[in-house]
Amino acid sequence: MSEHTKKHLVTAALPYANGPLHIGHIAGAYLPADIYVRYLKSKGEDVAFICGSDEHGAAITLRAKKEGTTPQAIVDKYHQINEKAFADFGIQFDKYSRTSKPIHHETARDFFKVLNDKGVFEKQTSEQFYDEENNQFLADRYIIGECPNCHHDGAYGDQCEKCGSTLSPQDLINPKSTISGNSPILKETSHWFLPMQKDEKWLKEWIEAGTLDGKQQHNPKVWRNQVIGQCKSWIDGGLQPRAMTRDLDWGVKVPVEGADGKVLYVWLDAPIGYISATKEWASENGKDWEDYWKGEDTELIHFIGKDNIVFHAIIFPIILKAHGDFVLPTNVPANEFLNLEGDKLSTSRNWAVWLHEYLEDFPNRQDELRYVLTSIAPESKDSEFTWKDYQARVNNELVAILGNFVNRVAVLTHKYYDGVIPEVEYTEEEGAVFNKVLGLASKSGELIQQFKFREAQSAAMGVARIGNKYLADVEPWKLIKTDPEKVKIIMALAIEIVSELKDVIKPFLPTTANKLGALLGDGKTLNKPELLFQKIEDKDIEIQILKLESNKKMNAPKPEAKPQLPEASFEDFTKMDIRVGTILEAEKVPKANKLLKLLVDTGLDKRTVVSGIAEHYTAEEIIGKKVSVLLNLASRKIRGVESQGMILMAENSVGELSFVSPENEVESGSEIR
Ligand code: 2FM
Ligand code: ZN
Repeated sequence: MSEHTKKHLVTAALPYANGPLHIGHIAGAYLPADIYVRYLKSKGEDVAFICGSDEHGAAITLRAKKEGTTPQAIVDKYHQINEKAFADFGIQFDKYSRTSKPIHHETARDFFKVLNDKGVFEKQTSEQFYDEENNQFLADRYIIGECPNCHHDGAYGDQCEKCGSTLSPQDLINPKSTISGNSPILKETSHWFLPMQKDEKWLKEWIEAGTLDGKQQHNPKVWRNQVIGQCKSWIDGGLQPRAMTRDLDWGVKVPVEGADGKVLYVWLDAPIGYISATKEWASENGKDWEDYWKGEDTELIHFIGKDNIVFHAIIFPIILKAHGDFVLPTNVPANEFLNLEGDKLSTSRNWAVWLHEYLEDFPNRQDELRYVLTSIAPESKDSEFTWKDYQARVNNELVAILGNFVNRVAVLTHKYYDGVIPEVEYTEEEGAVFNKVLGLASKSGELIQQFKFREAQSAAMGVARIGNKYLADVEPWKLIKTDPEKVKIIMALAIEIVSELKDVIKPFLPTTANKLGALLGDGKTLNKPELLFQKIEDKDIEIQILKLESNKKMNAPKPEAKPQLPEASFEDFTKMDIRVGTILEAEKVPKANKLLKLLVDTGLDKRTVVSGIAEHYTAEEIIGKKVSVLLNLASRKIRGVESQGMILMAENSVGELSFVSPENEVESGSEIR
């Protein structure tokens, strides 16, 4: 090992490369990690910030099957989308790798071999579900059935997404293979199990007291309650042996004889991805990866969402310790979940704000979303994102306080001094204001180190509040006539607050901090100000809300189709004379909201038909349209108008009507049969 100075290895959960990222992922792990890292780096600390795509696991092979493509094509697509979205959002990893890389396969295989040679695993034979039609064992996700708890019919072999309970495939009532739809059989297979029950004792001590091998390894007071709570309940409930291999053809091959057709469990493989990505980063940057994983004075921090706690605070530490030489995490600051507009975020229901779509709809406004997501970060309990709240926070805080303060300072400095920063000596009054600023800045830093990002950002924002209030209180625009010397002092202080603000907001709002840097220039003259924030208009968020609502509609469970009518003979059918007609004229029927009176060319004649479509079409838009007309329907009077025939309409589940029109050009009078 080369150096002995303190190192920080910060990881953020490797996102599965089988879909895009949404604000829940960002608020859960990546944004707090980025803030933490930016802060450490601003203090000159030695940090490696590691992430990458998690490209293995049954969720990915399953998705590929569904879409009729290969797992490789899926992960290539989403790796690229997600890497770009992170970069555009200002999440600055030192390395964003992929678990499909050879260096990862090699690292994961070696890791497994070391553990296997040490006798860490127990090989066990058990019965697993097997799809006879496709000759393959079924990973948990490949089996669906009825949940034994809530009786939801689409529960997966590992989890019911309806009631949230963790399941084993054998718990499911009436399990079915998602590949063939058949009922799977149980067949014997052997796997390498991690006997986690053997680790309960040291884990409990380590998590609750922070001690490891009799030494203080971390301060449990800085760990989040929910992390300690979840771990305790797992351990107290008794840890079970867990298979570290799977029967699957996509992943890291098990590097042992007699393991054909088996790969490493994705939850063994993925965290090792942190190590392989560090190796890559180190070799690209002239560093020694072992300094960051094995050093005496290394802090390993895993940023994750709460669904990952057991893997990062129990299973991975067991594995690291069993391997030997590796440090264990100093903290696992897991967040709770973020909800959206009153509902759980859901990829499958498309109930989400997708990061790449936000960046398209709100270009260059990444700091606005960063600000709001940190303001509502689900650090100790679930929280909620709504577009109204987003708008209010941007307009009332970023625009009205931060933006307003900086803008005033810039405008006044240019107006009074052509941008030249006055050189002055402060009186006690300014000293007191500036001390408050410094106090908030250091408080913000301390809070970041305690993983309280929400409060830390609020303290940082306090600096802008002080500046804004200070100007409003002393009103330099009034004093400039009577006491120009005092105004010089006021403006010098205000500019110094802007400079402090730049540093304190940088971890949270890096783009804005850069703009402040550009404004402050060489420290002698202010440059022309760039616009920091724009108001979010009502229409901007209305579009977003509509988008969500239309997704909800599209994903709403389809109502049961109406049962089929009793049988009709062919003769019955031929009694109906249905033909293509052209609408020549259309007008509203007075005092009837639903009715249009149409003049239709039927090929035989021109006749009047009254149709109940006025809520779906305007008279103007349907003139010239080719439609289907039932000609020999007995004529009847509707609202005083004689209607001869009927226009056929398709009606969807929510009662929306559409014409049934010929696909190709055919003349009026063509028969429909
Ligand atoms: O939950 C997830 O999205 C997983 N892909 C996280 C993996 S984190 C780590 F183990 F790499
Ligand atoms: Zn359930």
